[in-house]
Amino acid sequence: MNDDFKNNVIWQKHSITRIKREKKNGYKSIAIWFTGLSGSGKSTIANSLEKTLFKHEINTYLLDGDNIRSGLCSDLSFSMVDRKENIRRIGEVVKIMLEAGIIILVSVISPYRHHREMICQMLGKKNFFEVFVDTPISVCESRDPKKLYQKARSGKISNFTGVQSIYEIPRTPNAILNGTDSVECNLKKLIKILYNHNIISFIDMN
Ligand code: ADX
Repeated sequence: MNDDFKNNVIWQKHSITRIKREKKNGYKSIAIWFTGLSGSGKSTIANSLEKTLFKHEINTYLLDGDNIRSGLCSDLSFSMVDRKENIRRIGEVVKIMLEAGIIILVSVISPYRHHREMICQMLGKKNFFEVFVDTPISVCESRDPKKLYQKARSGKISNFTGVQSIYEIPRTPNAILNGTDSVECNLKKLIKILYNHNIISFIDMN
């Protein structure tokens, strides 16, 4: 970016702040970031968590990799550089949504550790809750809901995560879910973890 341009853009402060919105809502906004292989079950779990939060009248939004790549990031490939840009743009959207007082659920493969760390830094540690949906690739591949593993194995698509491209397991995620357990079981487990971290204290656990 040209320096003159940068210097001529001035951040505008708004009267309605995140703090005011959170106070009105009665809960804090946060990003719950689901990472895992394609077919690991992250979108299914994120979707059922969103349904539960919605029932409790919480303002949420689920950002899903496939959907984001159909619009905002439709110009990006699955190269390392483009995956970074995909994640960076999602991070910027999340930043706005945090200000809007929303609980944001993000379901993206985000295979590289340093990209996820970049997001954590960008949002701030207290705004980023990393959930690793741990599912063996053999299970993801046997599910293959979009038949993409099949296409990757036959060389019809390249750079497919787990086949021609790596997935780096999170070292210290805030939660680990076993993707071979049922959705109900994982939802229950996740809600308990979120409750114990005071993220969803509004849910009556009794
Ligand atoms: S990420 O790796 O850049 O974080 P993202 O979550 O946005 O991936 O998108 C993944 C989705 O794109 C997958 O669920 C799958 O449906 C589709 N997809 C198409 N090609 C690939 C590929 N080469 N690697 C991974 N996912 C792919």
